[in-house]
Amino acid sequence: MKKKVLVTGGTGYIGSHAIIDLLENGYDVVCVDNGINSDPSSLEAIKKITGVSVPFYCIDLCDRQESEKIFLEHTDIDGIIHFAALKAVGESVEKPILYFRNNLESLINILDLSIKYDVKAFIFSSSCTVYGDVSQSPVDENTPWQDAASPYGRTKQIGEQIITDSLKHTKVKSILLRYFNPAGAHPSALLGESPVNPPQNLVPVITETAIGKRNQMTVYGTDYPTRDGSCIRDYIHVCDLAHAHTLCLKHIFLDKQSQQSDTFNVGIGNGLSVLEIIDAFEKQTGQVLNYTKGARRPGDVMAIYSDYTKAKKILGWQPKYDVNDIMRTAWEWEKHRSKSM
Ligand SMILES: NC(=O)c1ccc[n+]([C@@H]2O[C@H](COP(=O)([O-])OP(=O)(O)OC[C@H]3O[C@@H](n4cnc5c(N)ncnc54)[C@H](O)[C@@H]3O)[C@@H](O)[C@H]2O)c1
Repeated sequence: MKKKVLVTGGTGYIGSHAIIDLLENGYDVVCVDNGINSDPSSLEAIKKITGVSVPFYCIDLCDRQESEKIFLEHTDIDGIIHFAALKAVGESVEKPILYFRNNLESLINILDLSIKYDVKAFIFSSSCTVYGDVSQSPVDENTPWQDAASPYGRTKQIGEQIITDSLKHTKVKSILLRYFNPAGAHPSALLGESPVNPPQNLVPVITETAIGKRNQMTVYGTDYPTRDGSCIRDYIHVCDLAHAHTLCLKHIFLDKQSQQSDTFNVGIGNGLSVLEIIDAFEKQTGQVLNYTKGARRPGDVMAIYSDYTKAKKILGWQPKYDVNDIMRTAWEWEKHRSKSM
């Protein structure tokens, strides 16, 4: 019997790539999203790539009663991957209540339902933002948390605590995946990051500038004490990240996880600066980027990259793509989506 997985936030960037990886690895998938930052066109792309039409619910997970309908119609959900959340660091600084309400209410509802309907595995999209403004990298899962640099980061810190506390005395096992900086697109160029709201993440801002949707982009902060003054991050290809979720489910379904909850970093363990990323993009694509150097952005940490030894050892996860693949696939996707607009 195929295992069934509910993917929340499944029409979004990472969720849609995770759905492909799940389908390719023999899972049945149900998708829910309220469309606040995506649209169901990603499900059409998933169908083109995999041949599968994924059942879809357009529901706000902050509405518990509506959300329960999914479980009443699919009584055999074995696992949940909870991607649904608002994710823009800058916006969360301006609208903290929106972020706390959306990200925490939806989480509490889906957790409550996962307990009520005997789900076996709960995978949570956490983030390296839980570590806050760290003084040293690489960070491993035991690196102590600093104060969250933004309300968004705080929702991930609180979210992790809510999950471990709520599931402690239940049969639902959880994995908290701390993503570093997901980027790039599906190699088919049919699927990639396509947010409803203007992207704040670096790579889509780069590709939108290169294609002419933006006249110019800004590098926020070039006076940090880093090798070239710009922020350093750990960029991980979205398909590598997607596969980590499939491995987490397998780990729990095969009863390999003894503890109730576990945590893994998912990054490639290599810190690259914003200016190095721009350089990699220009070299990979032959484009010349129109950018300017601006002030630091509130909520940004100076430098962070991962130690992912634990995910490699326990989940058998290993990234396959590098920064050049990220730039190439992101650019192919940008050209594809601009053509179809
Ligand atoms: N992309 C990143 O840089 C990054 C880094 C670390 C962690 N994360 C986390 O990974 C997850 C997925 O991120 P993404 O990049 O795919 O973002 P995304 O915005 O593309 O996807 C999130 C999806 O959740 C949906 N959503 C939001 N609130 C909802 C609600 N109340 N009910 C139903 N659907 C709702 C949105 O419409 C969107 O499609 C998020 O939890 C995010 O915080 C992302």
